[in-house]
Amino acid sequence: DWTMASYKDEAIRKIRETVGDRRVICGLSGGVDSSVAAVLIHEAIGDQLTCVFVDHGLLRLNEGEDVVKMFRDNYNIPLIHANESDLFLGALEGVSDPEVKRKTIGRLFIDVFQKYASQIDGADFLAQGTLYPDVIESVSFSGGPSVTIKSHHNVGGLPEKMGLKLVEPLRELFKDEVRELGRELGLPESFIGRHPFPGPGLAIRCPGEITREKLEILRKADAVFIDQIRKHGLYDEIWQAFVAILPVRTVGVMGDGRTYDFACALRAVTSVDGMTADYYPFTHEFLGETATRIINEVKGINRCTYDITSKPPGTIEWE
Ligand code: XMP
Repeated sequence: DWTMASYKDEAIRKIRETVGDRRVICGLSGGVDSSVAAVLIHEAIGDQLTCVFVDHGLLRLNEGEDVVKMFRDNYNIPLIHANESDLFLGALEGVSDPEVKRKTIGRLFIDVFQKYASQIDGADFLAQGTLYPDVIESVSFSGGPSVTIKSHHNVGGLPEKMGLKLVEPLRELFKDEVRELGRELGLPESFIGRHPFPGPGLAIRCPGEITREKLEILRKADAVFIDQIRKHGLYDEIWQAFVAILPVRTVGVMGDGRTYDFACALRAVTSVDGMTADYYPFTHEFLGETATRIINEVKGINRCTYDITSKPPGTIEWE
């Protein structure tokens, strides 16, 4: 009979068999998926694994430091912290089409991994924490016509020229199973319980053109929203929560002055696997308090809305 412990053993066996005495680099995003993949592969092949955490300039507030710290504190896995924000933000300048954003980010991730792989002798493999829903969603929407909804940055195969083979040990798993595997591997609970964060990061929470100014504002608003959720003890009930900064400025009044600042949308959903989702039924009191805090604490935002779209017909992310 099937247990997560036997899944783990089998996965480790397969990784060893595939990799042999070669080296693997693993893209670490800070999410549960890539963290579980990294720890699993580390169990299998030890120091033949090097992790690369790419800061693409599209991370949440303090995200990069937090992830690298948690890995350095808990694991002895060789880890490169690559700051590539100028590269990514430069390439995204003036880009507002969601698919162009996604493809640009996906291409740059590959370039960056290739660069680091070329510095590691014998690195033949790239590991990713791709899950089953990533695999099917990038091909077709469940039950619907076979069209691409979103190009996931981490699916779709690598260009031949990259010369790296893929290791994707979570490809058959759903999110709840990945969390279970993470527990089996002894990852800290605080890490296992983290909300998913998409590879393209804040780029897809900033519809329209991405600017450093908007990202800065978005990070602050998002941090307030998550703080509110934690303070009210709701974090674990919610699948994912974030702020999107809207590409529109609205007129407001603060003190005795006129403001003309960005509007933002709060998004929080419940879900089992990310394939379908319902908006989270916050109380009006919570929403009011959160909007007040964001508008008071975050310069650059003067209006706050709550997104009550379910998936389908919406998607969880705005792009
Ligand atoms: P959507 O927006 O399609 O998102 O309803 C479903 C789940 O997938 C996450 N997501 C991504 N994760 N790379 C990722 O690693 C991506 O390109 C990507 N796009 C969406 C999203 O955050 C949600 O959990």
